[in-house]
Amino acid sequence: MSLQGKKVLLGVCGGIAAYKSAVLVRLLIKAGAEVRVIMTPSAREFVGTVTFATLSKHPVAVDFVAGPDGSWNNHVEYGLWADIIVVAPATANTIARYAHGLCDNFLLATLLSARCPVVFAPAMDLDMWKHPATQRNIDLLRASGVQIISPADGELASGLTGTGRMEEPDAILQYLAHLPHPENKRLNGKKVLITAGPTYEAIDPVRFIGNHSSGKMGFALAEVCAREGAIVTLVHGPVHVRASHPNIHTVPVVSAREMFDAASTAFATCDIFIAAAAVADFTPADTAEQKIKKENSDTGLTLHLKKTTDILGTLSAQKTGQFIVGFALETENGLQHAQEKLQRKQLDMCVLNQTSDTGAGFGYDTNKISLLHKTGAIVNFELKPKAVVAQDIVDHIIQALHA
Ligand code: CTP
Repeated sequence: MSLQGKKVLLGVCGGIAAYKSAVLVRLLIKAGAEVRVIMTPSAREFVGTVTFATLSKHPVAVDFVAGPDGSWNNHVEYGLWADIIVVAPATANTIARYAHGLCDNFLLATLLSARCPVVFAPAMDLDMWKHPATQRNIDLLRASGVQIISPADGELASGLTGTGRMEEPDAILQYLAHLPHPENKRLNGKKVLITAGPTYEAIDPVRFIGNHSSGKMGFALAEVCAREGAIVTLVHGPVHVRASHPNIHTVPVVSAREMFDAASTAFATCDIFIAAAAVADFTPADTAEQKIKKENSDTGLTLHLKKTTDILGTLSAQKTGQFIVGFALETENGLQHAQEKLQRKQLDMCVLNQTSDTGAGFGYDTNKISLLHKTGAIVNFELKPKAVVAQDIVDHIIQALHA
Protein backbone atom coordinates (compact mmCIF):
# COMPACT_ATOMS: atom_id res chain seq x y z
CA MET A 1 0.00 0.00 0.00
CA SER A 2 1.16 3.52 -0.67
CA LEU A 3 2.25 5.51 2.38
CA GLN A 4 0.65 8.70 1.05
CA GLY A 5 -1.72 9.99 3.74
CA LYS A 6 -1.11 6.99 6.02
CA LYS A 7 -0.83 7.51 9.78
CA VAL A 8 2.35 5.83 10.90
CA LEU A 9 3.15 5.46 14.59
CA LEU A 10 6.86 4.90 15.19
CA GLY A 11 7.91 3.27 18.46
CA VAL A 12 11.55 3.87 19.35
CA CYS A 13 13.24 1.66 21.97
CA GLY A 14 16.52 2.07 23.81
CA GLY A 15 19.19 0.79 21.44
CA ILE A 16 21.96 2.51 19.55
CA ALA A 17 20.07 1.97 16.27
CA ALA A 18 17.62 4.62 17.59
CA TYR A 19 19.69 7.24 15.76
CA LYS A 20 18.74 5.59 12.45
CA SER A 21 15.06 5.97 13.30
CA ALA A 22 15.41 9.72 12.86
CA VAL A 23 16.21 9.03 9.20
CA LEU A 24 13.20 6.71 9.03
CA VAL A 25 10.93 9.56 10.17
CA ARG A 26 12.32 11.77 7.38
CA LEU A 27 11.77 9.05 4.78
CA LEU A 28 8.22 8.34 5.97
CA ILE A 29 7.30 12.01 5.80
CA LYS A 30 8.86 12.32 2.33
CA ALA A 31 6.71 9.34 1.28
CA GLY A 32 3.60 11.31 2.34
CA ALA A 33 2.93 9.67 5.71
CA GLU A 34 1.82 11.46 8.86
CA VAL A 35 4.15 10.37 11.65
CA ARG A 36 3.83 10.35 15.45
CA VAL A 37 6.60 9.03 17.65
CA ILE A 38 6.51 7.22 20.99
CA MET A 39 9.83 6.61 22.73
CA THR A 40 10.45 4.25 25.60
CA PRO A 41 12.10 5.93 28.61
CA SER A 42 15.42 4.25 27.83
CA ALA A 43 15.32 5.39 24.17
CA ARG A 44 15.84 8.92 25.50
CA GLU A 45 19.29 7.87 26.68
CA PHE A 46 20.25 7.46 23.01
CA VAL A 47 18.38 10.22 21.12
CA GLY A 48 16.58 13.32 22.43
CA THR A 49 12.83 13.76 22.10
CA VAL A 50 13.44 17.10 20.37
CA THR A 51 15.00 15.31 17.39
CA PHE A 52 11.87 13.24 16.77
CA ALA A 53 9.47 16.06 17.65
CA THR A 54 11.18 18.35 15.13
CA LEU A 55 11.28 15.76 12.36
CA SER A 56 7.71 14.50 12.89
CA LYS A 57 6.35 18.00 13.65
CA HIS A 58 4.45 16.54 16.62
CA PRO A 59 5.25 16.20 20.33
CA VAL A 60 6.82 12.89 21.27
CA ALA A 61 5.03 10.72 23.84
CA VAL A 62 7.16 8.90 26.41
CA ASP A 63 5.11 8.61 29.58
CA PHE A 64 1.46 8.32 30.52
CA VAL A 65 1.67 11.64 32.33
CA ALA A 66 2.37 14.41 29.83
CA GLY A 67 2.94 17.42 32.05
CA PRO A 68 2.99 18.77 35.60
CA ASP A 69 -0.61 20.02 35.14
CA GLY A 70 -1.91 16.43 35.20
CA SER A 71 -2.43 16.21 31.41
CA TRP A 72 -1.89 12.71 30.15
CA ASN A 73 -1.19 10.79 26.96
CA ASN A 74 -3.98 8.46 25.93
CA HIS A 75 -2.56 5.15 24.74
CA VAL A 76 -5.96 4.04 23.37
CA GLU A 77 -6.19 7.14 21.18
CA TYR A 78 -2.67 6.57 19.86
CA GLY A 79 -3.41 2.91 19.21
CA LEU A 80 -6.59 3.65 17.29
CA TRP A 81 -5.12 6.62 15.42
CA ALA A 82 -2.44 4.55 13.67
CA ASP A 83 -2.84 2.85 10.27
CA ILE A 84 0.51 1.12 10.86
CA ILE A 85 2.72 0.83 13.93
CA VAL A 86 6.39 0.22 13.37
CA VAL A 87 8.74 -0.37 16.29
CA ALA A 88 12.30 0.41 15.20
CA PRO A 89 14.60 -0.39 16.83
CA ALA A 90 12.77 -3.12 18.72
CA THR A 91 14.99 -4.24 21.59
CA ALA A 92 15.06 -7.71 23.14
CA ASN A 93 13.36 -6.22 26.20
CA THR A 94 10.41 -4.68 24.34
CA ILE A 95 10.06 -7.83 22.19
CA ALA A 96 9.88 -9.95 25.35
CA ARG A 97 7.47 -7.63 27.14
CA TYR A 98 5.09 -7.27 24.20
CA ALA A 99 5.23 -11.03 23.48
CA HIS A 100 3.97 -11.61 27.02
CA GLY A 101 1.40 -8.83 27.06
CA LEU A 102 3.14 -6.55 29.58
CA CYS A 103 2.28 -2.87 29.39
CA ASP A 104 4.49 -1.10 31.88
CA ASN A 105 5.37 1.79 29.59
CA PHE A 106 3.43 3.99 27.22
CA LEU A 107 4.64 2.28 24.03
CA LEU A 108 3.62 -1.18 25.28
CA ALA A 109 0.20 0.06 26.42
CA THR A 110 -0.32 1.61 22.97
CA LEU A 111 0.71 -1.65 21.26
CA LEU A 112 -1.86 -3.56 23.30
CA SER A 113 -4.54 -1.05 22.25
CA ALA A 114 -3.73 -1.17 18.52
CA ARG A 115 -5.95 -2.69 15.84
CA CYS A 116 -3.69 -1.99 12.87
CA PRO A 117 -0.76 -4.00 11.41
CA VAL A 118 2.27 -3.96 13.71
CA VAL A 119 5.80 -4.30 12.34
CA PHE A 120 8.92 -4.83 14.46
CA ALA A 121 12.46 -4.13 13.24
CA PRO A 122 14.65 -5.77 15.91
CA ALA A 123 18.17 -4.60 16.73
CA MET A 124 20.47 -6.16 19.28
CA ASP A 125 23.74 -7.94 19.73
CA LEU A 126 24.14 -11.23 17.87
CA ASP A 127 24.01 -13.47 20.95
CA MET A 128 20.91 -11.71 22.28
CA TRP A 129 19.22 -12.23 18.89
CA LYS A 130 20.24 -15.90 18.73
CA HIS A 131 19.24 -16.56 22.33
CA PRO A 132 16.46 -19.17 22.54
CA ALA A 133 14.41 -16.84 24.75
CA THR A 134 14.47 -14.07 22.13
CA GLN A 135 13.70 -16.52 19.34
CA ARG A 136 10.76 -17.92 21.33
CA ASN A 137 9.46 -14.39 21.87
CA ILE A 138 9.82 -13.60 18.17
CA ASP A 139 7.84 -16.76 17.38
CA LEU A 140 5.13 -15.65 19.82
CA LEU A 141 4.93 -12.23 18.18
CA ARG A 142 4.77 -13.74 14.70
CA ALA A 143 2.07 -16.15 15.79
CA SER A 144 -0.03 -13.21 16.96
CA GLY A 145 0.38 -11.49 13.59
CA VAL A 146 3.27 -9.10 14.25
CA GLN A 147 5.48 -8.79 11.19
CA ILE A 148 9.20 -8.99 11.82
CA ILE A 149 11.77 -7.31 9.61
CA SER A 150 14.66 -9.66 10.35
CA PRO A 151 17.86 -7.95 11.46
CA ALA A 152 20.72 -7.92 8.98
CA ASP A 153 24.27 -9.27 9.24
CA GLY A 154 27.17 -6.93 9.85
CA GLU A 155 29.28 -5.09 12.40
CA LEU A 156 27.47 -4.50 15.66
CA ALA A 157 27.89 -1.76 18.25
CA SER A 158 29.56 -4.29 20.57
CA GLY A 159 32.39 -4.72 18.07
CA LEU A 160 31.21 -8.24 17.26
CA THR A 161 30.07 -9.21 13.78
CA GLY A 162 26.90 -11.17 13.09
CA THR A 163 23.14 -10.95 12.80
CA GLY A 164 21.55 -8.19 14.85
CA ARG A 165 21.82 -4.89 12.97
CA MET A 166 18.53 -3.14 12.51
CA GLU A 167 17.58 -3.16 8.84
CA GLU A 168 18.41 0.14 7.11
CA PRO A 169 15.71 2.88 7.22
CA ASP A 170 15.28 2.69 3.45
CA ALA A 171 14.60 -1.05 3.57
CA ILE A 172 12.11 -0.55 6.44
CA LEU A 173 10.36 2.12 4.38
CA GLN A 174 10.14 -0.25 1.37
CA TYR A 175 8.74 -2.97 3.60
CA LEU A 176 6.05 -0.66 4.99
CA ALA A 177 5.19 0.66 1.54
CA HIS A 178 4.55 -2.92 0.41
CA LEU A 179 2.49 -4.07 3.38
CA PRO A 180 -0.60 -5.72 1.97
CA HIS A 181 -3.82 -4.11 3.07
CA PRO A 182 -5.50 -6.59 5.48
CA GLU A 183 -8.70 -6.80 3.39
CA ASN A 184 -6.92 -6.81 0.10
CA LYS A 185 -4.38 -9.63 0.13
CA ARG A 186 -3.50 -10.19 -3.47
CA LEU A 187 -2.88 -13.96 -3.30
CA ASN A 188 -5.98 -14.85 -1.31
CA GLY A 189 -7.11 -18.37 -2.23
CA LYS A 190 -3.93 -19.18 -4.21
CA LYS A 191 -1.69 -22.15 -3.55
CA VAL A 192 2.02 -21.56 -3.97
CA LEU A 193 4.75 -24.20 -4.15
CA ILE A 194 8.29 -23.05 -3.42
CA THR A 195 11.53 -25.05 -3.41
CA ALA A 196 14.36 -23.57 -1.35
CA GLY A 197 17.87 -24.19 -0.05
CA PRO A 198 20.46 -26.74 -1.12
CA THR A 199 20.20 -30.47 -1.55
CA TYR A 200 22.69 -32.91 -0.04
CA GLU A 201 23.61 -35.94 -2.14
CA ALA A 202 24.95 -38.78 0.00
CA ILE A 203 28.34 -40.28 -0.90
CA ASP A 204 28.28 -42.61 2.11
CA PRO A 205 26.50 -42.50 5.50
CA VAL A 206 28.59 -39.53 6.69
CA ARG A 207 29.55 -37.55 3.56
CA PHE A 208 27.63 -35.65 0.95
CA ILE A 209 27.90 -33.33 -2.04
CA GLY A 210 26.17 -30.03 -1.26
CA ASN A 211 26.35 -26.31 -1.94
CA HIS A 212 26.37 -22.99 -0.07
CA SER A 213 22.72 -22.04 -0.61
CA SER A 214 21.27 -20.62 2.66
CA GLY A 215 17.61 -20.91 1.59
CA LYS A 216 17.04 -17.26 2.64
CA MET A 217 15.64 -16.20 -0.75
CA GLY A 218 13.10 -19.05 -0.93
CA PHE A 219 12.03 -18.53 2.70
CA ALA A 220 11.64 -14.78 2.12
CA LEU A 221 9.44 -15.55 -0.91
CA ALA A 222 7.34 -17.92 1.20
CA GLU A 223 6.79 -15.20 3.84
CA VAL A 224 5.72 -12.63 1.24
CA CYS A 225 3.33 -15.06 -0.49
CA ALA A 226 1.81 -16.08 2.86
CA ARG A 227 1.44 -12.43 3.90
CA GLU A 228 -0.39 -11.86 0.62
CA GLY A 229 -2.89 -14.55 1.61
CA ALA A 230 -1.52 -17.64 -0.18
CA ILE A 231 -1.27 -21.12 1.29
CA VAL A 232 2.39 -21.99 0.77
CA THR A 233 4.07 -25.38 0.53
CA LEU A 234 7.78 -24.81 1.11
CA VAL A 235 9.89 -27.82 0.17
CA HIS A 236 13.37 -27.12 1.47
CA GLY A 237 16.75 -28.76 1.79
CA PRO A 238 18.95 -28.56 4.93
CA VAL A 239 18.96 -24.91 6.08
CA HIS A 240 19.27 -22.85 9.26
CA VAL A 241 16.41 -20.45 8.51
CA ARG A 242 12.88 -20.99 9.77
CA ALA A 243 9.49 -20.12 8.37
CA SER A 244 7.19 -18.20 10.67
CA HIS A 245 3.88 -17.49 8.97
CA PRO A 246 1.15 -19.96 9.96
CA ASN A 247 0.13 -20.40 6.28
CA ILE A 248 3.54 -21.82 5.34
CA HIS A 249 3.67 -25.63 5.39
CA THR A 250 7.29 -26.71 5.39
CA VAL A 251 8.40 -30.03 3.92
CA PRO A 252 12.02 -30.69 4.89
CA VAL A 253 13.96 -32.91 2.48
CA VAL A 254 17.61 -33.78 1.99
CA SER A 255 18.33 -35.01 -1.53
CA ALA A 256 17.30 -33.86 -5.01
CA ARG A 257 15.27 -37.05 -5.34
CA GLU A 258 13.32 -36.31 -2.15
CA MET A 259 12.81 -32.70 -3.24
CA PHE A 260 11.46 -33.87 -6.59
CA ASP A 261 9.04 -36.32 -4.94
CA ALA A 262 7.73 -33.74 -2.47
CA ALA A 263 7.45 -31.00 -5.11
CA SER A 264 5.67 -33.36 -7.56
CA THR A 265 3.01 -34.12 -4.95
CA ALA A 266 2.26 -30.44 -4.33
CA PHE A 267 2.61 -29.31 -7.95
CA ALA A 268 -0.63 -30.77 -9.30
CA THR A 269 -2.80 -28.53 -7.14
CA CYS A 270 -0.67 -25.37 -6.99
CA ASP A 271 -1.33 -22.12 -8.85
CA ILE A 272 2.22 -20.77 -8.70
CA PHE A 273 5.50 -22.71 -8.59
CA ILE A 274 8.69 -20.87 -7.64
CA ALA A 275 11.84 -22.97 -7.95
CA ALA A 276 14.31 -21.12 -5.75
CA ALA A 277 16.26 -24.19 -4.60
CA ALA A 278 19.88 -24.78 -5.52
CA VAL A 279 19.30 -28.39 -6.49
CA ALA A 280 22.39 -30.54 -7.04
CA ASP A 281 22.73 -31.25 -10.77
CA PHE A 282 24.63 -34.47 -10.06
CA THR A 283 24.37 -37.18 -7.42
CA PRO A 284 26.61 -40.20 -6.72
CA ALA A 285 25.56 -43.10 -8.97
CA ASP A 286 25.84 -45.37 -5.91
CA THR A 287 25.82 -44.44 -2.23
CA ALA A 288 28.24 -46.58 -0.21
CA GLU A 289 26.41 -48.40 2.56
CA GLN A 290 29.37 -48.09 4.94
CA LYS A 291 31.73 -45.18 5.44
CA ILE A 292 34.38 -45.18 2.69
CA LYS A 293 37.75 -45.89 4.35
CA LYS A 294 40.82 -44.15 3.01
CA GLU A 295 42.95 -47.30 3.48
CA ASN A 296 40.94 -48.83 0.63
CA SER A 297 41.66 -45.90 -1.67
CA ASP A 298 45.46 -45.54 -1.81
CA THR A 299 45.44 -44.11 -5.30
CA GLY A 300 42.68 -41.61 -4.63
CA LEU A 301 38.93 -41.90 -4.99
CA THR A 302 36.84 -41.55 -8.12
CA LEU A 303 33.16 -40.80 -7.64
CA HIS A 304 30.76 -41.68 -10.42
CA LEU A 305 28.01 -39.12 -10.63
CA LYS A 306 24.73 -39.26 -12.49
CA LYS A 307 22.40 -36.41 -13.36
CA THR A 308 19.55 -35.59 -11.00
CA THR A 309 16.05 -34.98 -12.31
CA ASP A 310 15.51 -31.35 -13.26
CA ILE A 311 12.60 -30.63 -10.90
CA LEU A 312 11.69 -27.33 -12.52
CA GLY A 313 12.00 -28.57 -16.09
CA THR A 314 10.10 -31.81 -15.45
CA LEU A 315 7.20 -30.21 -13.57
CA SER A 316 7.00 -27.31 -16.01
CA ALA A 317 6.52 -29.81 -18.86
CA GLN A 318 3.46 -31.15 -16.98
CA LYS A 319 1.88 -27.77 -16.28
CA THR A 320 -1.85 -27.33 -16.48
CA GLY A 321 -2.02 -23.56 -16.03
CA GLN A 322 0.44 -23.05 -13.15
CA PHE A 323 2.52 -19.84 -13.24
CA ILE A 324 6.13 -20.99 -13.21
CA VAL A 325 9.15 -19.07 -11.95
CA GLY A 326 12.71 -20.34 -12.18
CA PHE A 327 16.01 -18.95 -10.95
CA ALA A 328 19.23 -18.62 -12.88
CA LEU A 329 22.43 -18.14 -10.90
CA GLU A 330 25.07 -17.10 -13.39
CA THR A 331 28.67 -15.97 -13.21
CA GLU A 332 28.95 -14.80 -16.86
CA ASN A 333 26.66 -13.94 -19.80
CA GLY A 334 23.80 -13.89 -17.32
CA LEU A 335 21.06 -12.46 -19.55
CA GLN A 336 21.82 -14.86 -22.37
CA HIS A 337 21.80 -17.94 -20.08
CA ALA A 338 18.65 -16.78 -18.30
CA GLN A 339 16.82 -16.23 -21.63
CA GLU A 340 17.84 -19.68 -22.70
CA LYS A 341 16.57 -21.20 -19.40
CA LEU A 342 13.31 -19.28 -19.69
CA GLN A 343 12.63 -20.94 -23.05
CA ARG A 344 14.07 -24.39 -22.39
CA LYS A 345 12.21 -24.83 -19.09
CA GLN A 346 9.04 -23.11 -20.42
CA LEU A 347 9.01 -20.52 -17.61
CA ASP A 348 6.67 -17.60 -17.18
CA MET A 349 9.43 -15.70 -15.40
CA CYS A 350 13.13 -16.20 -14.74
CA VAL A 351 14.91 -14.50 -11.83
CA LEU A 352 18.53 -13.83 -12.76
CA ASN A 353 21.09 -13.61 -9.94
CA GLN A 354 24.45 -12.37 -11.10
CA THR A 355 26.97 -13.51 -8.52
CA SER A 356 29.56 -11.17 -10.06
CA ASP A 357 27.81 -8.36 -8.15
CA THR A 358 29.21 -7.77 -4.64
CA GLY A 359 26.69 -8.66 -1.93
CA ALA A 360 24.51 -10.75 -4.22
CA GLY A 361 23.78 -14.45 -4.04
CA PHE A 362 24.66 -17.31 -1.69
CA GLY A 363 25.35 -16.43 1.92
CA TYR A 364 24.49 -12.72 1.63
CA ASP A 365 21.38 -11.04 3.08
CA THR A 366 21.16 -8.91 -0.04
CA ASN A 367 20.57 -9.79 -3.66
CA LYS A 368 20.68 -8.04 -7.04
CA ILE A 369 18.34 -9.47 -9.61
CA SER A 370 16.91 -9.00 -13.05
CA LEU A 371 13.47 -10.36 -13.90
CA LEU A 372 12.95 -11.81 -17.36
CA HIS A 373 9.31 -12.22 -18.35
CA LYS A 374 8.21 -14.65 -21.03
CA THR A 375 6.81 -11.61 -22.87
CA GLY A 376 10.41 -10.49 -23.42
CA ALA A 377 10.30 -7.70 -20.82
CA ILE A 378 13.41 -7.42 -18.63
CA VAL A 379 13.40 -5.47 -15.35
CA ASN A 380 16.67 -4.72 -13.53
CA PHE A 381 16.74 -4.06 -9.78
CA GLU A 382 19.28 -2.50 -7.40
CA LEU A 383 21.06 -4.45 -4.66
CA LYS A 384 18.43 -4.87 -1.89
CA PRO A 385 17.75 -6.95 1.26
CA LYS A 386 16.38 -10.38 0.31
CA ALA A 387 13.04 -9.65 2.02
CA VAL A 388 12.56 -6.66 -0.29
CA VAL A 389 13.79 -8.60 -3.34
CA ALA A 390 11.16 -11.24 -2.51
CA GLN A 391 8.49 -8.55 -2.44
CA ASP A 392 9.63 -7.26 -5.86
CA ILE A 393 9.44 -10.78 -7.33
CA VAL A 394 5.97 -11.43 -5.89
CA ASP A 395 4.73 -8.01 -7.09
CA HIS A 396 5.80 -8.95 -10.61
CA ILE A 397 4.19 -12.39 -10.41
CA ILE A 398 0.91 -10.77 -9.33
CA GLN A 399 1.13 -8.18 -12.12
CA ALA A 400 1.79 -10.92 -14.69
CA LEU A 401 -1.13 -13.00 -13.36
CA HIS A 402 -3.45 -10.04 -13.97
CA ALA A 403 -1.97 -9.02 -17.33
N1 CTP B 1 16.47 -26.75 -10.83
C1 CTP B 1 15.64 -27.79 -10.46
N2 CTP B 1 16.12 -29.06 -10.43
C2 CTP B 1 17.40 -29.34 -10.75
C3 CTP B 1 18.25 -28.29 -11.12
C4 CTP B 1 17.76 -27.00 -11.14
O1 CTP B 1 14.47 -27.55 -10.15
N3 CTP B 1 17.82 -30.60 -10.69
C5 CTP B 1 15.93 -25.39 -10.91
C6 CTP B 1 16.49 -24.43 -9.90
O2 CTP B 1 15.72 -24.40 -8.72
C7 CTP B 1 16.41 -23.11 -10.65
C8 CTP B 1 16.61 -23.48 -12.10
O3 CTP B 1 16.26 -24.88 -12.17
O4 CTP B 1 15.14 -22.52 -10.54
C9 CTP B 1 17.96 -23.23 -12.66
O5 CTP B 1 18.80 -24.25 -12.39
P1 CTP B 1 20.28 -24.37 -12.97
O6 CTP B 1 20.88 -25.56 -12.36
O7 CTP B 1 20.99 -23.06 -12.79
O8 CTP B 1 20.02 -24.49 -14.51
P2 CTP B 1 20.48 -25.56 -15.50
O9 CTP B 1 19.47 -25.45 -16.58
O10 CTP B 1 20.62 -26.85 -14.81
O11 CTP B 1 21.82 -25.02 -16.09
P3 CTP B 1 23.32 -24.89 -15.51
O12 CTP B 1 23.39 -25.58 -14.18
O13 CTP B 1 24.15 -25.51 -16.52
O14 CTP B 1 23.50 -23.40 -15.39
